[in-house]
Amino acid sequence: MKILLLGSGGREHALTWKMLQSPQCEAVFVAPGNAGTAQIAQNIAINPNDFEAVKQVVLTHHIDMVVVGPEDPLVKGIVDFFKKDEAIQHIPVIGPSKEAAQLEGSKDFAKEFLIRHQIPTAAYQSFTKDTVEEGKQFLETLKAPYVLKADGLAAGKGVVILEDLNEAKAELENMLVDAKFGDASSKVVIEEFLSGIELSCFVLTDGKSYQLLPTAKDYKRIGEGDKGLNTGGMGAVSPVPFATAEFLKKIEDRIVIPTVEGIKKDQLDYKGFIFIGIIKVGEDPFVIEYNVRMGDPETEVVMPRVKSDLVALFQAIAKEELDTMTIELDARSATTVMLVSGGYPEDYEKGKVITGIEQVEDSIVFHAGTALKEDAIVTNGGRVLAVTSYGNNYDEALKKSYQNIDKLNFDKIYYRKDIGFDL
Ligand code: AMP
Ligand code: GLY
Repeated sequence: MKILLLGSGGREHALTWKMLQSPQCEAVFVAPGNAGTAQIAQNIAINPNDFEAVKQVVLTHHIDMVVVGPEDPLVKGIVDFFKKDEAIQHIPVIGPSKEAAQLEGSKDFAKEFLIRHQIPTAAYQSFTKDTVEEGKQFLETLKAPYVLKADGLAAGKGVVILEDLNEAKAELENMLVDAKFGDASSKVVIEEFLSGIELSCFVLTDGKSYQLLPTAKDYKRIGEGDKGLNTGGMGAVSPVPFATAEFLKKIEDRIVIPTVEGIKKDQLDYKGFIFIGIIKVGEDPFVIEYNVRMGDPETEVVMPRVKSDLVALFQAIAKEELDTMTIELDARSATTVMLVSGGYPEDYEKGKVITGIEQVEDSIVFHAGTALKEDAIVTNGGRVLAVTSYGNNYDEALKKSYQNIDKLNFDKIYYRKDIGFDL
């Protein structure tokens, strides 16, 4: 079968790499892709949010299935677009409907879903411009630190955590009245601060049943010791050592099962990945957020640990037969370290020549922000390469990634040397 994958990051390179291992996979097209996907698949230079352009690609290349990497096309309704169009409605799209994608697209929708289905999460209330004073009063009833979340998608920047009550009130005003995040902060969720260690849980669903993928932990801050600005993710580890069988059972019973049951009860059309951000408070798991896609860089450690045929799993999802499948995992650990452009997540330069990729041994280099320029591979984004390795434990895997990173270079290269430091 011919598959069209939407997106251009390390996640998409890892998904392409994994799908191509399937005997059922004849070809993968990636739109728009990067220099890494260009080496193993065919890139197509379209914007994944331009659904008419996606449709043309599907028809021109006789695509049999579409897999959506990032959240944007999902929140904008690509699944509904396909369902409504007679020419393409028979082609399965792996991802949730526009309504179901609100689990990521609206923090308020997600919180209502969590409460309705009695899934453990932080206590909260939502406010708008008209209720900003009530919002300030609600803040007074909470203890520091204060967690404010823009309701809509804000490129990963919409969560603000503040220690000072007056600063929190000012920030609420800034978000609601001064539209700090534009439309995304026309509603703000204020929630109780939960203290604990975070991990990510990945689930495949056909809307009726589910299969668990490996857990992972990502490192979001730019600086070592988890300091400094938030990024898309600077590295990841799978499995997560503190996620014992007992703790995973709690996650499955208290969070995964009620989530899939909730999707069914609410009649949400959901065929795809669920990424559940979880925080371990004491010995108990709480949901921090839902995402309706795989994580990046988590995909770069999760996919290498899945032994089963991913394309066969996608086909089972399309046919609502996921309950007939099992997922076999690689028992080894996988780790990835992100190489980023100096300056990221603020301003950085692009177009720097990357050297050394062909010298890497015993690690997998997944491309994120890369492009081809004449014969060279050059940087084309903040996050540039993810260097993934296997090991008998995460320490061994990380050692391999760091040894190989020594062979890689581009102007102003930066990476965290402490991935896994807290485990
Ligand atoms: P989100 O975009 O919802 O994942 O939030 C970004 C980050 O903010 C999370 O990964 C957590 O580290 C932190 N965070 C979000 N909500 C809470 C909360 N209720 N308590 C503590 N930390 C939180
Ligand atoms: N690494 C976090 C995310 O993909 O949202």
